[in-house]
Amino acid sequence: MVQVHRMFFHYSEFPLSMRTLFTGTLIVLGVGYLFGMLHVYNSHAGRDGKPGLSVEDLAIAYSGNKEATKLEAALLGPMSSMLSTDERGSIVGWVRRGVDQQEYKSRIEPIVEQRCATCHDGNNPHIPPLTDYKEVAALAELDTGIDIFTLIRVSHIHMFGITFIFFITGFIFSHAFVRPVWFKSLVIAVPFFAIFLDIGSWYVTKVNPIFAWVVIIGGGLMGLSFAFQWVVSMYQMWFFKYSPEKHPREATTI
Ligand code: HEC
Repeated sequence: MVQVHRMFFHYSEFPLSMRTLFTGTLIVLGVGYLFGMLHVYNSHAGRDGKPGLSVEDLAIAYSGNKEATKLEAALLGPMSSMLSTDERGSIVGWVRRGVDQQEYKSRIEPIVEQRCATCHDGNNPHIPPLTDYKEVAALAELDTGIDIFTLIRVSHIHMFGITFIFFITGFIFSHAFVRPVWFKSLVIAVPFFAIFLDIGSWYVTKVNPIFAWVVIIGGGLMGLSFAFQWVVSMYQMWFFKYSPEKHPREATTI
């Protein structure tokens, strides 16, 4: 007979109010996770010039692109919908010809003013300003990837944010009846380990692009754990009845 820990309580033993709280929390976190995935896709897909998200795109995001400048990578990737193919061709051609200042005035500035200035006017500290030749030309230098200060800022935001998310999902999931217990604990532990794999590999990928794979493995492990905890918790919350007769609590030893 499988005994459970004397402190274990299953969802089906909790009042409706608590199950409602858990369910609401899981739904919002689940939708948030999907938006997070969408954001990752939007901000990296197409950097290598091909549609869709690939390992190459991530490698370029962190370590830079030896073949294209930051401006070109943005124009092919996240900024590609902001202008027409012709306009993109003009800008890319201008970069390739060596960012001539005369040509900027005559051909590039009108495009930038019309297509980019609304967002890149210097009012948002997270968006690089594109208001004159110098600023645009600076982004047309060789792309060395996300700079280290941005990585540090994003690292601490990620660590705090992700810890909150997986504390909450892990806490809810700890009330599921899952055996063996080591497996249940592993599912809870994986994301905390994967945070280091994911964030650590951002820095290593700056030096060696092959580690973009580790970024993906780290993110994948987190996603798997999240999905497993979410589905099992939701299912057991509403469709699974834990039976204390079949699986009694072990005797109190104190
Ligand atoms: C609707 C608002 C908007 C418009 C219009 C827009 N951008 Fe952006 N752009 C952004 C935001 C937001 C970011 C920051 C995105 C990020 O870092 O994830 C950004 C980032 C960039 C970056 C930096 C990418 C990096 O890797 O640091 C470049 C270069 C860029 N945009 C170029 C352009 C160009 C050129 C145009 C005009 C053709 C343009 N953008 C139009 C919102 C806009």
